[in-house]
Amino acid sequence: MYQIAVLLSGSGSNLQALLDAERAGTLGARVALVVSDRADAYGLQRALTHQVAAAFVPLPPAPPGPARAAARSAWEQRLAGIVELFSPDLIVLAGFMRILSPAFLQRFPERVINQHPALLPDDGGASYTTSSGLVIPALRGAHVVRDALAHGLTVTGCTIHRVTPRVDDGPVLARAEVPILPGDTADTLHERIKREEHQLIVEVVRSLALTQQETALPPRQDQS
Ligand code: GRF
Repeated sequence: MYQIAVLLSGSGSNLQALLDAERAGTLGARVALVVSDRADAYGLQRALTHQVAAAFVPLPPAPPGPARAAARSAWEQRLAGIVELFSPDLIVLAGFMRILSPAFLQRFPERVINQHPALLPDDGGASYTTSSGLVIPALRGAHVVRDALAHGLTVTGCTIHRVTPRVDDGPVLARAEVPILPGDTADTLHERIKREEHQLIVEVVRSLALTQQETALPPRQDQS
């Protein structure tokens, strides 16, 4: 069975979508591990409710300078060590509010994907062209739902992409557009974006799991 690890820092509604699909037998994968860098992340509770292994790996505060860099690298090594124990086929960053270093990514090549609550282009560029031909800025960073409203956009969305050392970049696996409605606040808009994300993450995991299963099949024997 295709195993996934989910890294999160918050509510974990996307984790819930994965757990619900797994329980319904439609995911084609098993959530084997949930890790959070925050003790109060509700996603940890969701994991425990579903009897999924859950770990809290805090990044200890450190003064700026070499001590901070060393603390961060030690934290990442702890994180990678825990993840490695479960040998996941896929690591899903589902609202994980930390940037992972190239060293971490090299330990899990091609295996880390990220959910981003805005539309990102295929070419890593600064703009995205919507299905109706509208050119909008490619929003990156931690506040893109707010930024979409601040830019006065009429459409935004969500993207799932492979993680590379370039933040909010990397090959796009799926995306969905979400209209911005008059009167939308960051909260109402994010809720609608998340509804799309919940479907998209299940579809992406299912398709990656299926692809791996197909490529792992032994060559078909000639029946003649
Ligand atoms: C999602 O919108 C995801 O795109 C972003 O963080 C949010 C996580 O939501 N990176 P939840 O914790 O799964 O509810």
